[in-house]
Amino acid sequence: MDKKLEKAFNEQIKNELYSAYLYLAMAAYCESKNLAGFAHWLKVQAKEEQSHAMKLFDFLIDRGVRVVLQAIAQPPLDFSSAADVFEKTLEHEKKVTALIDKLYMLSRELKDNPAAIFLQWFVSEQVEEEKNAAQILDTIKVIKPDSAALIMLDRELAKREG
Ligand SMILES: [Fe+2]
Ligand SMILES: [Fe+2]
Repeated sequence: MDKKLEKAFNEQIKNELYSAYLYLAMAAYCESKNLAGFAHWLKVQAKEEQSHAMKLFDFLIDRGVRVVLQAIAQPPLDFSSAADVFEKTLEHEKKVTALIDKLYMLSRELKDNPAAIFLQWFVSEQVEEEKNAAQILDTIKVIKPDSAALIMLDRELAKREG
Protein backbone atom coordinates (compact mmCIF):
# COMPACT_ATOMS: atom_id res chain seq x y z
CA MET A 1 0.00 0.00 0.00
CA ASP A 2 1.15 3.54 -0.74
CA LYS A 3 2.72 5.15 2.35
CA LYS A 4 0.44 8.15 2.07
CA LEU A 5 -2.60 5.91 2.07
CA GLU A 6 -1.25 3.81 4.96
CA LYS A 7 -0.89 6.99 6.99
CA ALA A 8 -4.39 8.15 6.12
CA PHE A 9 -5.90 4.77 7.05
CA ASN A 10 -4.09 4.76 10.38
CA GLU A 11 -5.36 8.28 10.95
CA GLN A 12 -8.93 7.12 10.29
CA ILE A 13 -8.59 4.36 12.91
CA LYS A 14 -7.87 7.14 15.39
CA ASN A 15 -10.80 9.22 14.08
CA GLU A 16 -13.22 6.32 14.60
CA LEU A 17 -11.88 5.70 18.09
CA TYR A 18 -12.25 9.40 18.86
CA SER A 19 -15.89 9.12 17.69
CA ALA A 20 -16.39 6.26 20.16
CA TYR A 21 -14.78 8.40 22.87
CA LEU A 22 -16.96 11.40 22.03
CA TYR A 23 -20.17 9.35 22.18
CA LEU A 24 -19.08 7.83 25.48
CA ALA A 25 -18.53 11.35 26.85
CA MET A 26 -22.04 12.25 25.69
CA ALA A 27 -23.40 9.06 27.29
CA ALA A 28 -21.75 10.02 30.59
CA TYR A 29 -23.32 13.49 30.37
CA CYS A 30 -26.78 11.99 29.65
CA GLU A 31 -26.42 9.58 32.59
CA SER A 32 -25.65 12.58 34.82
CA LYS A 33 -28.92 14.15 33.64
CA ASN A 34 -30.97 10.97 34.25
CA LEU A 35 -31.45 10.43 30.54
CA ALA A 36 -30.65 6.72 30.63
CA GLY A 37 -32.27 6.02 27.23
CA PHE A 38 -30.17 8.69 25.51
CA ALA A 39 -27.11 7.32 27.29
CA HIS A 40 -27.93 3.80 26.11
CA TRP A 41 -28.30 4.97 22.51
CA LEU A 42 -24.94 6.74 22.71
CA LYS A 43 -23.22 3.72 24.26
CA VAL A 44 -24.46 1.56 21.39
CA GLN A 45 -23.20 4.25 19.01
CA ALA A 46 -19.79 4.21 20.72
CA LYS A 47 -19.59 0.43 20.19
CA GLU A 48 -20.46 0.91 16.54
CA GLU A 49 -17.62 3.41 16.16
CA GLN A 50 -15.24 0.93 17.78
CA SER A 51 -16.35 -1.65 15.24
CA HIS A 52 -15.60 0.86 12.46
CA ALA A 53 -12.09 1.27 13.85
CA MET A 54 -11.69 -2.52 13.92
CA LYS A 55 -12.85 -2.88 10.32
CA LEU A 56 -10.07 -0.48 9.27
CA PHE A 57 -7.59 -2.20 11.61
CA ASP A 58 -8.35 -5.63 10.13
CA PHE A 59 -8.19 -4.30 6.58
CA LEU A 60 -4.68 -2.94 7.17
CA ILE A 61 -3.64 -6.29 8.67
CA ASP A 62 -5.09 -8.11 5.62
CA ARG A 63 -3.03 -5.84 3.38
CA GLY A 64 0.13 -6.51 5.35
CA VAL A 65 0.27 -2.94 6.63
CA ARG A 66 1.60 -2.17 10.12
CA VAL A 67 -1.12 -0.62 12.28
CA VAL A 68 0.17 2.47 14.09
CA LEU A 69 -2.19 3.53 16.85
CA GLN A 70 -2.23 7.23 17.64
CA ALA A 71 -3.17 9.26 20.71
CA ILE A 72 -6.88 9.91 21.07
CA ALA A 73 -7.83 13.44 22.12
CA GLN A 74 -9.88 14.09 25.24
CA PRO A 75 -13.54 14.60 24.31
CA PRO A 76 -15.59 17.49 25.73
CA LEU A 77 -16.81 17.01 29.30
CA ASP A 78 -19.97 19.04 29.24
CA PHE A 79 -22.96 19.63 27.04
CA SER A 80 -25.82 22.02 27.61
CA SER A 81 -28.78 19.77 26.79
CA ALA A 82 -29.95 16.68 24.94
CA ALA A 83 -30.49 18.93 21.92
CA ASP A 84 -26.89 20.12 22.19
CA VAL A 85 -25.69 16.49 22.28
CA PHE A 86 -27.47 15.66 19.03
CA GLU A 87 -26.50 18.91 17.35
CA LYS A 88 -22.89 17.99 18.10
CA THR A 89 -23.47 14.40 17.01
CA LEU A 90 -24.73 15.52 13.61
CA GLU A 91 -21.92 18.07 13.28
CA HIS A 92 -19.38 15.38 14.16
CA GLU A 93 -20.79 12.87 11.68
CA LYS A 94 -20.60 15.49 8.93
CA LYS A 95 -16.92 15.95 9.74
CA VAL A 96 -16.37 12.20 9.61
CA THR A 97 -18.18 12.01 6.26
CA ALA A 98 -15.74 14.59 4.87
CA LEU A 99 -12.79 12.56 6.20
CA ILE A 100 -14.12 9.31 4.69
CA ASP A 101 -14.72 11.03 1.37
CA LYS A 102 -11.15 12.35 1.40
CA LEU A 103 -9.77 8.90 2.19
CA TYR A 104 -11.89 7.36 -0.55
CA MET A 105 -10.75 9.96 -3.09
CA LEU A 106 -7.11 9.40 -2.10
CA SER A 107 -7.43 5.65 -2.66
CA ARG A 108 -8.96 6.36 -6.07
CA GLU A 109 -6.15 8.79 -6.95
CA LEU A 110 -3.56 6.22 -5.97
CA LYS A 111 -5.45 3.59 -7.97
CA ASP A 112 -5.70 1.32 -4.94
CA ASN A 113 -8.81 -0.59 -5.98
CA PRO A 114 -9.11 -2.85 -2.92
CA ALA A 115 -8.94 0.22 -0.65
CA ALA A 116 -11.51 2.11 -2.74
CA ILE A 117 -13.90 -0.85 -2.77
CA PHE A 118 -13.42 -1.41 0.95
CA LEU A 119 -14.16 2.25 1.67
CA GLN A 120 -17.43 2.21 -0.25
CA TRP A 121 -19.04 0.56 2.79
CA PHE A 122 -17.93 3.53 4.90
CA VAL A 123 -19.25 6.02 2.35
CA SER A 124 -22.70 4.41 2.57
CA GLU A 125 -22.49 4.03 6.33
CA GLN A 126 -21.95 7.78 6.69
CA VAL A 127 -25.25 8.43 4.89
CA GLU A 128 -26.96 6.32 7.59
CA GLU A 129 -25.00 7.98 10.40
CA GLU A 130 -26.01 11.48 9.32
CA LYS A 131 -29.60 10.41 8.73
CA ASN A 132 -29.95 8.85 12.21
CA ALA A 133 -28.45 11.85 13.99
CA ALA A 134 -30.58 14.30 11.96
CA GLN A 135 -33.80 12.38 12.68
CA ILE A 136 -33.23 12.37 16.44
CA LEU A 137 -32.19 16.03 16.36
CA ASP A 138 -35.39 16.96 14.47
CA THR A 139 -37.46 15.19 17.13
CA ILE A 140 -35.63 16.83 20.04
CA LYS A 141 -36.01 20.25 18.46
CA VAL A 142 -39.81 20.12 18.73
CA ILE A 143 -39.68 18.87 22.33
CA LYS A 144 -39.40 21.16 25.35
CA PRO A 145 -36.57 20.36 27.77
CA ASP A 146 -37.72 18.59 30.96
CA SER A 147 -41.04 17.69 29.36
CA ALA A 148 -42.97 14.41 29.31
CA ALA A 149 -42.20 14.19 25.59
CA LEU A 150 -38.48 14.16 26.35
CA ILE A 151 -39.01 11.23 28.74
CA MET A 152 -40.95 9.43 25.99
CA LEU A 153 -38.07 9.98 23.55
CA ASP A 154 -35.65 8.76 26.22
CA ARG A 155 -37.66 5.52 26.49
CA GLU A 156 -37.69 5.19 22.73
CA LEU A 157 -33.91 5.56 22.50
CA ALA A 158 -33.50 2.96 25.27
CA LYS A 159 -34.75 0.35 22.76
CA ARG A 160 -31.81 0.64 20.38
CA GLU A 161 -30.22 -2.75 19.82
CA GLY A 162 -27.50 -2.30 17.27
FE1 LIG B 1 -17.68 5.66 12.24
FE1 LIG C 1 -20.24 7.63 13.12
